[in-house]
Amino acid sequence: MVTRTVDLRSDTVTKPTEAMRAAMSAAEVDDDVLGTDPTAFRLESEVARMLGKEAGLFVPSGTMSNLISVLVHCDVRGSEVILGDNSHIHIFENGGISTIGGVHPRPVKNNEDGTMDIGLIEAAIRDPRGELVYPTTRLICLENSHGNTGGRCLPVEYIDRVGELAKKHGLKLHIDGARIFNASVALGVPVNRLVQPADSVSVCLSKGLGAPVGSVIVGSKTFIVKARRLRKTLGGGMRQVGFICAAALVALQENLGKLEHDHMNAKALAEGLNQIEGLRVNLAAVETNIIFFNIVEGSKITAAELYKHLVEHGVLVMPEGPSRMRIVLHHQISSSDVQKLTSLALERLREVSPSSSPISAAESPPPKKGSFATMPSGILEITLVSAHDLPSVTKNMKTYAVVWLQHDEDNKQATNVDQAGGINPKWNHAFTFRAGGKFLNSEDAAISVEVCAAAWDKDATIGYVDIPLRDILEMPSSVVTDASGTASFKLHRPKGKSQGVLKIEVSLKLSNKEHSGSIVNGSSLCNSDIGPSASVVAAAIANGLYTPPVNNETPSEESEQIKEWTKKEREKAAAERRPIVGSIVGAPFHNRKVSRARSTKGRKGDGKKLFSCLGCEIAITCGSGGNGGDEGSRRRNRRRHRGSNKVCNLSSVDD
Ligand SMILES: Cc1ncc(COP(=O)(O)O)c(C=O)c1O
Repeated sequence: MVTRTVDLRSDTVTKPTEAMRAAMSAAEVDDDVLGTDPTAFRLESEVARMLGKEAGLFVPSGTMSNLISVLVHCDVRGSEVILGDNSHIHIFENGGISTIGGVHPRPVKNNEDGTMDIGLIEAAIRDPRGELVYPTTRLICLENSHGNTGGRCLPVEYIDRVGELAKKHGLKLHIDGARIFNASVALGVPVNRLVQPADSVSVCLSKGLGAPVGSVIVGSKTFIVKARRLRKTLGGGMRQVGFICAAALVALQENLGKLEHDHMNAKALAEGLNQIEGLRVNLAAVETNIIFFNIVEGSKITAAELYKHLVEHGVLVMPEGPSRMRIVLHHQISSSDVQKLTSLALERLREVSPSSSPISAAESPPPKKGSFATMPSGILEITLVSAHDLPSVTKNMKTYAVVWLQHDEDNKQATNVDQAGGINPKWNHAFTFRAGGKFLNSEDAAISVEVCAAAWDKDATIGYVDIPLRDILEMPSSVVTDASGTASFKLHRPKGKSQGVLKIEVSLKLSNKEHSGSIVNGSSLCNSDIGPSASVVAAAIANGLYTPPVNNETPSEESEQIKEWTKKEREKAAAERRPIVGSIVGAPFHNRKVSRARSTKGRKGDGKKLFSCLGCEIAITCGSGGNGGDEGSRRRNRRRHRGSNKVCNLSSVDD
């Protein structure tokens, strides 16, 4: 029996969250056609601010936002727009720019990565001397991320070049940024920087961001005045529109930080599907939240049959032809949903072709009776509160912290960057992790935290700690109750010496109790393994809170200081003949000295600090790092750490 539908047809299918519904019912509203709806104004200003433009305008759909933008730029009869032959505006918007707007499209071939060759764009620009017979080129349109090529991202350098070309020929540049935040997160480029050369951008709120309705167009004040008038002409002026704008404001707050997780989910799913004999995915093309996959020629199954099998089991995808399907990830799809799809595909392929042995990452033997799978699982909420007395790496040190459960290094989550706290940062950032019974019942269950100093070219790990779960949560050998605890732990510098203290809060809610996260369709925990903010560093970058300079800029003074610091750490370690790699994550936590003390409060002794936790006091001296540990696994851990936090640009001092 299907208990819950896993809807992967598009990122437009998300349902409004409880917070969105609450914001909608509480929204302050007025007549937006008269220009007096305060919530609409707030949303428009916020999106304009985020994208670095003067003003914004809420419109009902992405299609209308593109149509209005093109028509404002091409307001003279006989105008022509250069756009991709595989772009959304050209293919999927009913030809509205010509049928409604009288604008002539000049399609240029889209490459597989969503770009158009600059030379081809330039060649498509009409020579004004031929105006007797030619339409007049007035606009170039780009799409980022590019949906029809699988969510590929146009790099900032490419957009800059198209912007320069437009300027050179006196043309305007519009970006269909229906999924511009996905592109920003995937590229690790602040969204305002990414769209800098554009005269207008349309941003969809009801795609990856998960709002129920709407798009916002941003541009100059003059552009938006004209756009507002056209919106009215097209019937897109709405009265108390603040209701839906309120939900969109929540979407920006709640879901921006989850995009990176969607991208990670997409990559994992693409890899899983690609391992199944009979299916093919171009893995290199999976840059954001969209996957196209093909049924290979000669396979014993058709796309229609596989589609039917998936639907029967509650998984919806989008057929794209006789042998092609599309999948789009979004914030209401969890890692286990992704696994379900892979398992179903594998199952069906096996049924039709029992002799072959398709393999899958999702494949796992059925749980044995009495195995860990039958033990209680739960939700761990981990709040990285603050740190103090960190080593000072740069003058204006900006830090963030990364947390993960030790068994699940691929699911790392990061706080935002504290811009002002220096050596005493405060993050107060809560993350939610799904913790399986196997993990919770393991003697070795631990939470890992790294504190990093942010710099553009090379962030530095300045402190780490692995915290055995049993030292922060008072748990009997078999977990039977919810638990919570707050404690402070000494941090260790990459070479192992302790410096700085991390404050952390942890609470565990067992799955047979009421969840604290929001429930989607009654059975899946929306915030569980997705977490409230998969990488808030990514969100901070997208928000422009943390603005790394562009690639070709010379390294900042800060970056240089960080490099110098890491170099010194390396030299010190070399002098002491201690492998830095071996001490970055430290010795495995079970090798570490962890002892408990009875009395309470702030006792100090032989360099150990005592911490209060659930009425217990813990003295913790984490591993010296000098005793080796599993260096190979730590090296792998570091590599994965970097890979899964592309946007954080994490790098260890051993690089
Ligand atoms: C790249 C792109 N632009 C524009 C749109 C149009 O958005 P809407 O469906 O809200 O009209 C879409 C819709 O999927 C899209 O993918």
